[in-house]
Amino acid sequence: MILMHDIIRDGHPTLRAVAKEMTFPLTIEEKKFGEDLLQFLINSQDPEIADKHGLRSGIGIAAPQVNVSKRMFALHLPDPKGKQISMVVVNPKIVSHSVEGSYVSVGEGCLSVDRDVPGYVPRHARITVKFFTLDGEEKKMRLKGLPAIAFQHELDHLNGIMFYDHINMANPFAEIPNASPLED
Ligand code: NI
Repeated sequence: MILMHDIIRDGHPTLRAVAKEMTFPLTIEEKKFGEDLLQFLINSQDPEIADKHGLRSGIGIAAPQVNVSKRMFALHLPDPKGKQISMVVVNPKIVSHSVEGSYVSVGEGCLSVDRDVPGYVPRHARITVKFFTLDGEEKKMRLKGLPAIAFQHELDHLNGIMFYDHINMANPFAEIPNASPLED
């Protein structure tokens, strides 16, 4: 079971590394690790379990955040229609995206960043993504709303990018051209 002390924090070099592509078939350990990432998110959103283990609630977590520099992450959150998205993705790619941008009106947070970093994080409003499941099945999916933003946040982790890298530090809440706010 992944706990908060397993999650590396801002400043750790692994968070700034480009993670390695994974090769299929994944090992038993790699599959188990993917399942553990997703289980962490599920646990973190369960008030009783989260309270018992002191888990900070999260909707996404990437392998590098647990100091495993491989291209894998998990998401667990509802889509804009209220349907639950719960998945582990391997070797993800954005194959196309909308011209229109989006940003979370209250800014973004990260399990690896213990401080609040205020400001808008510009993202694509809609993305088409490709990835592999833990079993090596290739999937293509369209995402919008918070799932699209979460996917981009986690994909950034695989490339050594932190959400606050995207914030305009001179004017963190400056209007972002051609982007609509996503109310949290
Ligand atoms: Ni993060």
